[in-house]
Amino acid sequence: MTVLSEHILEEIRDLPSKFPQPRSAVMPALDLAQEELGHLTPEAMTEVAHELQLDPGYVEGVATFYTLFHLAPTGKHRFYVCTNLSCMLRGADDVVARLKSEIGVHEPGEVSKDGLFSYEEVECLGACEYAPMCRVDHAYHYDLTPDSIARLVAERRNGGSAVAAPKKARAPRKRKADA
Ligand code: FES
Repeated sequence: MTVLSEHILEEIRDLPSKFPQPRSAVMPALDLAQEELGHLTPEAMTEVAHELQLDPGYVEGVATFYTLFHLAPTGKHRFYVCTNLSCMLRGADDVVARLKSEIGVHEPGEVSKDGLFSYEEVECLGACEYAPMCRVDHAYHYDLTPDSIARLVAERRNGGSAVAAPKKARAPRKRKADA
């Protein structure tokens, strides 16, 4: 009996043929496992390693290195707030403080009492132009303020935008000299 479904194991087995280097399949494979279970258990990582014919220690090393992989249960909706330099300079601290207060947690990784939310503080997500920003589940949200992060929480709490479509890239901000 495996912890991952046969359907997911099959998808993982097919992954290496899609990459020039079969080892490159490890991240999408872990992503599939995490999508199914909510977080990566030791058993799930062992099964991923087995299907990809990789060393289990290597797979675990990848899973523990990247903050987007979770080794413990998370909330149904996961907020990844960038707290790197550009976002920090433009108010990420205030955004994080409001998020914590809205979902009722004290630290990254803690799950809200209703099981709906958890958050992580992450390194640059490559959207510094729109700082401060975050990823919620699979969608990016830009130019955050304490009020806008509160709205994102409320939408998910009400079930309104639980699966928001990713926002399209926008034109760069005008520099002062261009304005
Ligand atoms: S510093 Fe936040 S997206 Fe780059």
